[in-house]
Amino acid sequence: MSSEPAPVAAATPPAQSVEPPVKGASGGEAPEHRALVLTSFGGYEKVKVQARRSGSPRPGELSVRVRACGLNFADVMVRQGLYDRLPSPPFCPGMECAGTVCAVGEEVRDRQVGDKVMILARTGLWQEVVNVPAMQTFLMPEGMSFEEAAALPVNYITAYMILFDFGNLRPNQSVLIHMAAGGVGNAAIQLCKTVENVTIFGTASASKHDSLKESGVAHPIDYRTVDYAEEVRKISPKGVDIVMDPLGGSDTSKAFHLLKPMGKVITYGVANLITGQKKNLMAMAKTWWNQFSINAIQLLHHNKAVCGYHLGYMDEEYELITGVVLKLINLYNQGKIKPKIDSVWSFDQVADAMKHMQEKKNVGKVILVPEVPKEESKKAEN
Ligand SMILES: NC(=O)c1ccc[n+]([C@@H]2O[C@H](COP(=O)([O-])OP(=O)(O)OC[C@H]3O[C@@H](n4cnc5c(N)ncnc54)[C@H](OP(=O)(O)O)[C@@H]3O)[C@@H](O)[C@H]2O)c1
Repeated sequence: MSSEPAPVAAATPPAQSVEPPVKGASGGEAPEHRALVLTSFGGYEKVKVQARRSGSPRPGELSVRVRACGLNFADVMVRQGLYDRLPSPPFCPGMECAGTVCAVGEEVRDRQVGDKVMILARTGLWQEVVNVPAMQTFLMPEGMSFEEAAALPVNYITAYMILFDFGNLRPNQSVLIHMAAGGVGNAAIQLCKTVENVTIFGTASASKHDSLKESGVAHPIDYRTVDYAEEVRKISPKGVDIVMDPLGGSDTSKAFHLLKPMGKVITYGVANLITGQKKNLMAMAKTWWNQFSINAIQLLHHNKAVCGYHLGYMDEEYELITGVVLKLINLYNQGKIKPKIDSVWSFDQVADAMKHMQEKKNVGKVILVPEVPKEESKKAEN
C-alpha cells in the first residue's frame, strides 16, 4: 500500500485583502475560527492552521461560513513570494471559496442569511469564516456543490475571458492548451467544446492523456518527453489559431511561432518559475532572459496578436467579472460546463495538497475544506 498522504475525498480577482474585524455582534470579543496562514515565504510547511477572530460584517459586507476553497497554482507562487500585490506575511491566502451567508451588513440589499455563494478575492479566503464585500460574491446555482462552486471562479473566468474575449474563438478553429489537465486547462477544454468543431491540442504529463481524450482533447502531447511545438506542426503544419500560454519564458516565443496568420497568443502565467518548494533564482533568471519581446512593426508584419491576461489586476472590474460569471452560471445550468474535482483535502492537509499539485499529480481542481467532511470522520472512527 502507498504511504502517500491521501486527500479526504477523491474525486488566478477583483477585490481587496479580507481582514476580519475582531469585535463580535454583541460588541464583545468575536468567536475564534480556523484559518490557513502563510507565516513566511518558502516551502510547504509555511502555511499553517491558526485561530483567527471574525466580527460582524461592515456596511456592504457579508459574513460567510466557508465550506470549500480553491487551491490555485498562483497560491504556490504566493507561498514562494513570487506573486505581487499581496500583504507581507503573516496573512491568510486564498482567492476563491464557497459557503453560506451567516450575517449581512448594513446596505446589502441582494443577499440574505442562508444564501449559498461563491466568492472571488485577491486574498484572505482560506478561513472558516470570511467577511467580504457583497459585490465579490455570486449566488450559487441550484444543484451546484460547494466544491464545484469553489472550483469555478478563478479557473472558469480566466479560461472564458482568454478564449472568448481575447481569443474570439469561432467554429472550426484550433487551440493549444498548456497544463490542459489542470484547473484552468479543464475549464478551457469544456469551454472550447461549447463551440462547433474546435480542435484541441493539450499538453500534460503522459498519465493524464486518457482523461484528456475523454474530455475532448484531440491531440494530447507529453511535453516532458517530446518537443510539443514539433508535435503540433506534424499534425497541423500551419499551426493553431489560439495558444493559451500559462508558462512564460521561451514558451511564449514558441507559442507566437505556432500561430497561424490572424492567430492569438494569450499569456497568463509564468509556471516556468516553479521548479521546487522554494523560489529558484536560476529559473527566475532563465525565464526573464528568455522573455518574449516584439515591437509594433514586427507584429504588423506577422498578422498575429499577443495578449496578456491577469485576473488579479481586475480588482475594480466588478461589472465585467459579474457579466462573465453570469454567462458561466448559464452554461453550468445548461450542463455545458462542470468543474472537474481532482481531490478534496482538509485545512490540516494543506501542505500535502500543495505538494500533490506541485508534483504534477492533479487532474482537475484541488479543493481545501476547513474540516474533515463528516462522512470521512465517521469512516475514520469505525
Ligand atoms: N492570469 C490569471 O489571471 C490566471 C488565473 C488562473 C490561473 N493562471 C495560471 O494558469 C496556470 C494553471 O493554473 P491552475 O491553477 O489551473 O493550475 P493547474 O494546472 O491545476 O496546476 C498544476 C499542474 O500544472 C502542470 N505544471 C506545468 N508546469 C508545472 C510546474 N512548473 N510545476 C508544477 N506543475 C506544473 C502539472 O500538470 P502537467 O504536468 O500534467 O501539465 C500540474 O499538475 C498557472 O500558470 C496559473 O498561474 C493565471
